[in-house]
Amino acid sequence: MEFIDLRSDTVTKPTDAMREAMASAVVGDDVYGEDPTVNRLQEMMADLVGMEAGLFVASGTMGNVVAILTHAGRGDEMLLGHLAHTFLYEGGASAGLAGVHPHILQNEEDGTIDLDAIEEAIRPDNVHFPISRLLCLEDTHNRCGGAAIGADYLDAAAQLAHSHGMSVHLDGARLFNAAIALGVAASELTRNVDSVMICLSKGLGAPVGSVLCGTRTFIDRALRMRKIVGGGMRQAGIIAAAGIYALENNVERLTEDHANAARLAAGIDAIPGLSCTSHDGSKIPTNLVYFTVDGASIGNPALDANLLSQRLREHGILANSLGSSNQMRMVTHIGIDGGDIEQAITALRSSLEET
Ligand SMILES: Cc1ncc(COP(=O)(O)O)c(C=O)c1O
Repeated sequence: MEFIDLRSDTVTKPTDAMREAMASAVVGDDVYGEDPTVNRLQEMMADLVGMEAGLFVASGTMGNVVAILTHAGRGDEMLLGHLAHTFLYEGGASAGLAGVHPHILQNEEDGTIDLDAIEEAIRPDNVHFPISRLLCLEDTHNRCGGAAIGADYLDAAAQLAHSHGMSVHLDGARLFNAAIALGVAASELTRNVDSVMICLSKGLGAPVGSVLCGTRTFIDRALRMRKIVGGGMRQAGIIAAAGIYALENNVERLTEDHANAARLAAGIDAIPGLSCTSHDGSKIPTNLVYFTVDGASIGNPALDANLLSQRLREHGILANSLGSSNQMRMVTHIGIDGGDIEQAITALRSSLEET
């Protein structure tokens, strides 16, 4: 059976044109700084986010931990939301590799963290406390429904952190989704943060890679940290070429993913027993569709997110269940078209009707 894969935008496969760009890439040894394709990708991304320099890394997780290693030292503290990807899904890398103490604050529904809560959490200078060194934000915010966070909030949070001598790192795994949804340039979102990590391997459709951007001095230090975590790659231009192709061809088309996500969300909301939380008017949605499953409300208490996910698979639809919370997630991407959305809605309807 050919599946419609809505588990994540990481499942995309390179198109023929992207593969051609990869096959014909001019390469060199990137550890010597001699891969022209990697260098070009790094410059392109730095320009797009209005920063001085970029560093190609293997994954979003690597980009985030390299940023943390570069900004903070052992025993320092970083502030971040309780639903931050860096906190939930990166293997505890900040503590395990960087020795940085995570100080968790409540994420609001729209992915932000209350500014007063940030201010209150910043430690006074006292030998008993870790040094508050870094604030980590996320845009779009994955677990907050893929919400796009606007420049006003990012600016205010960055100014607050800076006024206390802290740095700000932005997990922008899906930064271009945020920029497209908000109708602004990516550089508007990053103008006050000190570093940003952007993934090429999600909505942009490249097979591998992320880019960490910051000042020249920051990236020079990050280069050492990338080496320490084993991220020094050699003829990496082969994969960087896919990133360049993605930046040149796949940014504007993210609007299609957002439109498909909105159609899917509306379809889900019209099905008794399901309610969409990512597209509920409380935040700016993008390509992630989160919804809750309430089997009891339709007289089928045994129907939970895990069972629905299994049933959908039988209908040829792959979607992730978030387990005990009875939440599910569907993600639109370059491999999903309008017909797939209709099929997914039909499969959801049929799966809920089965007893
Ligand atoms: C917001 C966010 N940050 C970071 C990552 C990590 O990216 P990677 O899977 O490339 O390590 C992800 C992955 O889904 C993500 O959603």
